[in-house]
Amino acid sequence: MRIAVFGANGPTGRHLTAQALAAGHEVVAVTRSPGSLPARPGLTVAVADATDPTAVDSAVEGTDAVLSALGARFSKDAVSLYSASAAAITDAMGRHGVKRLLAISSSIADPGWRPTGAHFFNHVLDPLVNRRLGRTLHEDMRRMEDVIRATGLDWTLGRPSGLFEHPVVTDYLTAPVSADGVFTARTDLAASMLRELEERRYVRTAMGVITTAVKPNIAKLIWNEGVRKK
Ligand SMILES: NC(=O)c1ccc[n+]([C@@H]2O[C@H](COP(=O)([O-])OP(=O)(O)OC[C@H]3O[C@@H](n4cnc5c(N)ncnc54)[C@H](OP(=O)(O)O)[C@@H]3O)[C@@H](O)[C@H]2O)c1
Repeated sequence: MRIAVFGANGPTGRHLTAQALAAGHEVVAVTRSPGSLPARPGLTVAVADATDPTAVDSAVEGTDAVLSALGARFSKDAVSLYSASAAAITDAMGRHGVKRLLAISSSIADPGWRPTGAHFFNHVLDPLVNRRLGRTLHEDMRRMEDVIRATGLDWTLGRPSGLFEHPVVTDYLTAPVSADGVFTARTDLAASMLRELEERRYVRTAMGVITTAVKPNIAKLIWNEGVRKK
């Protein structure tokens, strides 16, 4: 398949791109920073701001499926990346007859999801990080979900929980709507999206993705995701 990967230069996007190429797909890596993606067989780089309809249109043309690993930073101001890019991507897909879309959202987008982790996660990290610092980001993620749901595309919303780096794909779990658990390795999230592309178990619904085989060290997670990444 020829797959467009939006956010290809981000932490999950890089895993998605590498795993898709390893699986024999052709990848159109869509990024604003083409210099950071080394040339590899099967890889084409498309330079586009994901909210620019013209640039998105060119990136989507000629592909068989679109995967989005786009992400915004936490902000106290309104976030629009998710909904604006979803509108540009789904419009372009409609114009070019591309039907299959997998976009990363979050467990938080499921109003019924509650963390089932350790006390510190449930009572400190989740309320502070997900519900307070991430409030405007998650509001726009829900708008993105609404934009995608309103299309006639074969969409799947990937809903991970707290993302962390782990070197290999593990025996991760997927579940409809959202999954019971608090952490998802980015390697597992990428693998679950590529598997869903083949298996089509969650078409026109959301797929929770959870890693259970390994757990991140919380101090390292806060450093890597909250401090170093900013
Ligand atoms: N962190 C968590 O615990 C957690 C939990 C659940 C869900 N998620 C979601 O999972 C997704 C993936 O997260 P991640 O940490 O792997 O990635 P990320 O750090 O959020 O980065 C994603 C990529 O999006 C790209 N991007 C942002 N705005 C863009 C624009 N206007 N046009 C084109 N590209 C743009 C960035 O490109 P540049 O490199 O050009 O800046 C970046 O490479 C995000 O949506 C995140 O919110 C995260």
